[in-house]
Amino acid sequence: MCGIVGYIGKRKAYPILIKGLHRLEYRGYDSAGVALINDEGQLNVYKAKGKVAELEAFCAEKDTNGCIGIAHTRWATHGEPNTVNAHPHYSESERLAIIHNGIIENYAVLKAGLQQEGYTFRSDTDTEVLVQLIEYTQVNRHVDLKTAVQLALQQVIGAYAIAILDKDHPDTLIAARKGSPLVVGIGEDEYFLASDATPIVEYTDKVIYIEDEEVVVLTANSQSSILNYQLSTINGVDKTPEIKRLELSLSQLEKGGYPHFMLKEIFEQPRTLTDSMRGRVNVRQDNIALSGFIDNKERFLNAKRIIITACGTSWHAGLIAMYAIEEFAQIPVEVEYSSEFRYRKPVINQDDVVIAISQSGETADTLAAIQLAKSKGAFIFSICNVVGASIPRVSDSGCYTHVGPEIGVASTKAFTAQVTALTMLALCIGREKGTMSEDKYLAVVRELGRIPDKISRVLEQDARIADFAKTFTYAQNFIYLGRGYNYPVAMEGALKLKEISYIHAEGYPAAEMKHGPIALISQEMPVVVVAPHCGTYEKVVSNIQEIKARKGRVIAVVTEGDELVSKIADYIIEVPETEECLTPLLTVIPLQLLAYHIAVVKGCDVDQPRNLAKSVTVE
Ligand code: G6P
Repeated sequence: MCGIVGYIGKRKAYPILIKGLHRLEYRGYDSAGVALINDEGQLNVYKAKGKVAELEAFCAEKDTNGCIGIAHTRWATHGEPNTVNAHPHYSESERLAIIHNGIIENYAVLKAGLQQEGYTFRSDTDTEVLVQLIEYTQVNRHVDLKTAVQLALQQVIGAYAIAILDKDHPDTLIAARKGSPLVVGIGEDEYFLASDATPIVEYTDKVIYIEDEEVVVLTANSQSSILNYQLSTINGVDKTPEIKRLELSLSQLEKGGYPHFMLKEIFEQPRTLTDSMRGRVNVRQDNIALSGFIDNKERFLNAKRIIITACGTSWHAGLIAMYAIEEFAQIPVEVEYSSEFRYRKPVINQDDVVIAISQSGETADTLAAIQLAKSKGAFIFSICNVVGASIPRVSDSGCYTHVGPEIGVASTKAFTAQVTALTMLALCIGREKGTMSEDKYLAVVRELGRIPDKISRVLEQDARIADFAKTFTYAQNFIYLGRGYNYPVAMEGALKLKEISYIHAEGYPAAEMKHGPIALISQEMPVVVVAPHCGTYEKVVSNIQEIKARKGRVIAVVTEGDELVSKIADYIIEVPETEECLTPLLTVIPLQLLAYHIAVVKGCDVDQPRNLAKSVTVE
């Protein structure tokens, strides 16, 4: 969702803030803004609709001096994306400026109360209500700003990560969070503040993760070396901050010569999967060691049921895991959209294991689903990519995917790593329970070790995929079909295409085509069929015949050496032979590339598609 960045220290804040906003732009990008207190004590706020570049252009002739500032890139929740609704927002007196990520759910009640007190509002946002409430509290309760922030936040229902500047205190930056992430970077003579570590990493590796309902006061003086931070709860209880070390490097954030982060991340997959398996898959000793499983073996072995909860691409990874866990461990699995699960009064038992999957580790619905399951006594195991994020912190155990930062909004390398982690888990449980044969276990473990090289072979077909992708930019609709382990791959392929090319696409189980989608098939309808050599291969071939009989255009993903489909499909992409449970790791690659190239030819903004955000921290 929205991106927050703040700076206080001896350097000029503006360039640091702008650079930080660029790094955070993947979180939201409908408008951006910055607030700075200059050396004369003036509080300047500048905002622009559109991307960060628009803000920079707008600020070119403005006074951008000052060693303290906050900046924001917005993904609209309340109020349309325009300059007025862009952050920062002033308080009534224009003494305070605030930026905010999250949603204040009771903003209407709070706003009505403030309007009765004579406060006027310039924007439609919930954020402006919060800054007005803080100023109102400070003026009427005669307290300092920190106390006013604490008191105001006690009245707030909803989620927030906020940062506030006070014109009268140009040496102080105040921030707080609940439900939306916030991290403080500790430099030599300076502090940084951000929604995630990406804007901070080039300055320091010392960070403090702010926890829910905590307020941090950062004090630094540009003239002297006074540097101080204080942490407390919104109820006024002092806390001792824990300083952690960042494991992120700057080179991981750069495009490395690729035109887009998404393409870089697709091509990184042979390496990222090697990283995900490092120290876990031991091909020489033919075993898998997953510490999150080893330390909690009994919980898994006694589980009567596994519930998987996730959103978006992570949910697709969860569906693939359902096939693997049921096949190998023979434990019933349910896969739930977090947003539905959290509200539908689900039956959760103490002997259930809940697996939460999240690249960002911050998705609000998944976090809430975990909290619900935890309150019922279930054991929570999370699969996350961002180290130290909220979801792994509230889980009982878990497994990091270790693929480095994923910047492209459309998830690619995180997905294959999630599938890999979940497959490792399924194998661990299956072997320990004795529900899978040793031969099968060994075959899959050995094959996991070969997957990175096999992905490299699929990537070699990139130029050909780019070439035939041009043929399909006319299409308004696509259907993606697959069966078994490759049914979720079909859904993931369709999601990739709609996310970045804005072409409508549906993923369907191939056999279900006859119950609806077949009516749509015509010469204009491209159908992507995922048809590797698996148990249901012949049946999928029949489905392809049915499509061809209706003049549909078929792009098929097949196993190398395929003879049947190659004769009837219009385009084929080959993937190497592998174990059935691992086919998604290969078959999804061409679908990622197809979506990417179609979007590029259409001139779409691949890394930052309209209306989407990388990390959905509001429900
Ligand atoms: C957003 C992103 C998707 C992602 C989903 C779940 O919609 O754009 O790429 O799959 O959130 O995010 P998570 O971080 O929980 O995996």
